[in-house]
Amino acid sequence: MLHRPLRAFNPIALNLGRFSQSPSLLNRHRAALVALPSISHKHFFHAKTTPMSAYQQKTFHGYAEEEFRIKQDVVPGTYLGPIDNTKPGADKVPILFQPFHIKDLTMANRIVVAPMCMYSSKNGFMTNFHLAHLGSFAIHGAGLVIAEASAVEPRGRISPQDAGIWDDAHIHKIKEIAEFVQSQGSKMGIQLAHAGRKASMRPPYSNPPDSDYWREDVVAPSGGEGLKWDQTFVTPRELAVEEIQQVVRAFGKAAARAAKAGLDMVEIHGAHGYLIHNFLSPVTNKRTDQYGGSLENRARILMEVIREVRANFPAEKPIFLRVSASDLVEGVLEGPSWDIEQTVQIAKWVKEAGVDVFHVSSGGNVAQQKLNAYPGYQVPFAEQVKKQVPGLAVVAVGIITGGKLAEEVLESERADLIAVARGFLRDPNFVLNAAKELNVKAKFSQQYERGRR
Ligand SMILES: Cc1cc2nc3c(=O)[nH]c(=O)nc-3n(C[C@H](O)[C@H](O)[C@H](O)COP(=O)(O)O)c2cc1C
Repeated sequence: MLHRPLRAFNPIALNLGRFSQSPSLLNRHRAALVALPSISHKHFFHAKTTPMSAYQQKTFHGYAEEEFRIKQDVVPGTYLGPIDNTKPGADKVPILFQPFHIKDLTMANRIVVAPMCMYSSKNGFMTNFHLAHLGSFAIHGAGLVIAEASAVEPRGRISPQDAGIWDDAHIHKIKEIAEFVQSQGSKMGIQLAHAGRKASMRPPYSNPPDSDYWREDVVAPSGGEGLKWDQTFVTPRELAVEEIQQVVRAFGKAAARAAKAGLDMVEIHGAHGYLIHNFLSPVTNKRTDQYGGSLENRARILMEVIREVRANFPAEKPIFLRVSASDLVEGVLEGPSWDIEQTVQIAKWVKEAGVDVFHVSSGGNVAQQKLNAYPGYQVPFAEQVKKQVPGLAVVAVGIITGGKLAEEVLESERADLIAVARGFLRDPNFVLNAAKELNVKAKFSQQYERGRR
């Protein structure tokens, strides 16, 4: 009895080829099949795996998606010329729309989608939400899309709903997303992260059960009640030296998975008060061993992570490092903190260790920070790194509101790339609107070309 329905799912037996021109007929026929009581899912999947000819694959349920992809003749976001030839400066290509090359990575323009946690994962897995979210920026011409902070070990998540890259099983979806982004001509990377003392917190838009958290295993360079980020955060415990080595290796394994997923770059997250920043800053690092005290000691874990990531990620692909240039507590907290001078010093070291691009953010490590946010507020930090560490490419980020401000930053040689986060959430078409502001006709994806007017 169980074998008979298989015939019903054989496209030849059903002569489904003739329905390919008539979707409504096909749908009615499919509905009739679904209504058959004796057909189980087991049979359906079995039927699906029965070898089919290429013609059948294209006319029924199995097909190779790549065959249906429209090839982009020119990468979306590429400079095509001025919109108005008569405007001043129309003869020049704005730097924002000049390609950027580093190692094997070539971007069609200088605009990067900054990593943004979406708290939309379970057990670290990215989903079709991420495919639509990140894929959309590629369709709309972003030069490089950096996927959100993805934890290198489960306890390194900010919340139970963070993305992760601690397990080989995570590779499959990341690869699928990367292949889509790359199929549009954009480039994709991922941010490798460990949340340190800011881990195991409630995600913003849901309330997972208590059993999803790991409040006893929130780790940091130094632990104890006095080292909570604030009263709403979990009390961290100090990492033993052997555990630090495990974390370092976890970054390396994550980088190897990123390579397997075919990503164009990885970014090490050393900013915003997460684990690496906790080690860098004397406010959060009270250790007296080889990982605490001097700048060299506080930066030790970062340097080890860089070496491990470099060893596990193809040499021809670039590594980005994101840091907070300052704890932003000067004049607020007494005693030493993390600042731009130390940032410039480590920028020199990390360049030697194999970091190709330095992404300059700020703050996030200390609750009492004084953040004065205005358009381009972090650019002065990026500028100091750029001026003092020649040869190290620099990304500026932070309320870069549009094409004109972005171009000004690049023209005055304060950065090489511009990253935008919230601007992309407000307007996934940020790149093409920035182009318009600069009198640039930029390539629309072929399918969206009609939207130009
Ligand atoms: C929703 C959201 C999620 C974020 N998640 C991350 C993250 O995963 N990693 C990170 O380094 N920064 C993260 N950030 C910070 C942004 O990457 C960016 O540095 C910051 O928002 C300033 O840029 P903007 O003014 O263009 O938004 C996040 C910001 C937002 C708005």
